[in-house]
Amino acid sequence: MAKLEVSSKRVMLRNYVTGFSQETYLELSQGTIVLKVPQGSNAILVKNLYLSCDPYICKKGTVYRKPYLTYHELFKICSPKKGEHVFVSAASGAVGQLVGQFAKLMGCYVVGSVGSKEKVDLLKNKLGFNEAFNYKEEHELDAALKRCFPEGIDIYFDNVGGKILDAILNMRTRGRIAACGMVSQYNLEQPESIKNLISIISKQVCIQGFVSHEQYHLYPQMLDTLLPYIREGKLVYVEDIAEGLERSPAALVGLFSGHNVGKQVAAVAHE
Ligand SMILES: NC(=O)c1ccc[n+]([C@@H]2O[C@H](COP(=O)([O-])OP(=O)(O)OC[C@H]3O[C@@H](n4cnc5c(N)ncnc54)[C@H](OP(=O)(O)O)[C@@H]3O)[C@@H](O)[C@H]2O)c1
Repeated sequence: MAKLEVSSKRVMLRNYVTGFSQETYLELSQGTIVLKVPQGSNAILVKNLYLSCDPYICKKGTVYRKPYLTYHELFKICSPKKGEHVFVSAASGAVGQLVGQFAKLMGCYVVGSVGSKEKVDLLKNKLGFNEAFNYKEEHELDAALKRCFPEGIDIYFDNVGGKILDAILNMRTRGRIAACGMVSQYNLEQPESIKNLISIISKQVCIQGFVSHEQYHLYPQMLDTLLPYIREGKLVYVEDIAEGLERSPAALVGLFSGHNVGKQVAAVAHE
């Protein structure tokens, strides 16, 4: 008979996080758990093989939500059309890489911003973006955007907020912005102010936020859409796997310095 009580590792937040997330805010401890569901219940036991590392876990202490569902918002909020000009920030990450590739599949011209040369190469050579730039090396974001989009931007899928969002607001008339996340703001005591908001009036820009956990019902539909593209090699997905729960604090905190290349997960068990 299987042992009912087993040892188990866990990672806990020591306290609420203030300021920049640090590895020391997270604590690895050993405990025991009882592998038994309450008598008469319909519950089942599951074993986690992977832990999804998402930027908002450190700050909000929330559980894992599926970034894959965010690609739906590209269609729902932004309605991309063939030939339109699309910009994606944090473009090599879990969300950004899918959004950019879907916009390409729709026949759009797609540019991504990322935080290293390695990621610029990934976007252009593996993920099929038309252009990419390293925002950390651009002194003037406006100039970088003008260089990549001489005719302006129709759609912005925002993963970072802050200065990049501010620079984009002066976009084409009837531009659309899907506000997915603001990773540049999560660690700040005071969020940065947005100066160009007034542009959205004359340019008739539409900005809409969303939360993916309201779309779990779309998961089967998402698989139906994604899997054929993956099988045909039209969609690739880059993952960054940290081995072991012990490495998950570093993996989580690394999201805020761009340490991850692709979707960050921690492999906590192999079978
Ligand atoms: N609305 C929703 O339901 C929902 C669901 C999932 C995720 N999200 C949001 O979507 C965004 C992307 O999440 P993800 O899971 O795909 O993470 P991710 O892009 O895989 O990882 C985060 C990336 O953000 C970039 N970054 C970190 N600090 C930055 C800063 N100060 N300025 C600019 N870029 C910075 C880093 O890439 P670089 O090297 O490029 O800097 C880092 O690799 C996050 O804002 C997240 O909160 C929202």
